[in-house]
Amino acid sequence: MDLREKPTVRNMRFWDLEKVLEIERSTFPTPWDAEIFLKGLRNTQSAVYLVMAMPGRLGGYIGADIADQEGHITNLAVSRDQRRKGFGSLLLIECMESCLEKGARWMTLEVREGNKPALGFYTHFGFEVLGVKMGYYYDTGENAVLMATGDIRMPDYRKMLYDFKESIGSRRRAEAGDL
Ligand SMILES: CC(C)(COP(=O)(O)OP(=O)(O)OC[C@H]1O[C@@H](n2cnc3c(N)ncnc32)[C@H](O)[C@@H]1OP(=O)(O)O)[C@@H](O)C(=O)NCCC(=O)NCCS
Repeated sequence: MDLREKPTVRNMRFWDLEKVLEIERSTFPTPWDAEIFLKGLRNTQSAVYLVMAMPGRLGGYIGADIADQEGHITNLAVSRDQRRKGFGSLLLIECMESCLEKGARWMTLEVREGNKPALGFYTHFGFEVLGVKMGYYYDTGENAVLMATGDIRMPDYRKMLYDFKESIGSRRRAEAGDL
């Protein structure tokens, strides 16, 4: 990865929506519309919406809602040409850290049963399968796999997130020829 691109995770802003929707539409069969993102952006107390900002574009975004100590990932997408560079990881880690600050103790999410890349991705971060919601997705009738972390406040889990961040940073520096 070219460090000159300086990708940075920051809060999503209203003016990011056009670019977010471009990624959303090119990623999901039934994309969210602007109104759903706007609802999340207005809910600053109990929602976290972040983007991976790059010069002139976005590399991806993530959203989560927090209720009763549960941080629920509602959306995550990395632009197709930017995958497998650690962006999804950095978005997820920052999101979990923000959820922790807002009172979350554990994280949950639903993912389509056939979405093997996402299942692999979340497993990589210690999410475990809690169960299957039959026919959960109204557009295709596909089942959802319900996944959850353990207690994300535990030092072991926080250390794992820290180590992931460090290793992505080292990888980026190595790829930029900086080591
Ligand atoms: C899932 C997604 C966000 C991952 O983003 P990413 O930036 O490519 O992920 P990372 O580069 O941070 O990957 C971290 C690790 O996750 C796992 N992983 C990521 N993509 C994977 C894939 N296609 N297959 C298997 N494992 C995968 C790997 O262990 C990877 O580590 P490695 O690259 O060192 O092997 C991305 O594939 C995406 O946007 N998919 C479409 C939208 C989607 O499915 N969102 C989730 C809906 S719940």
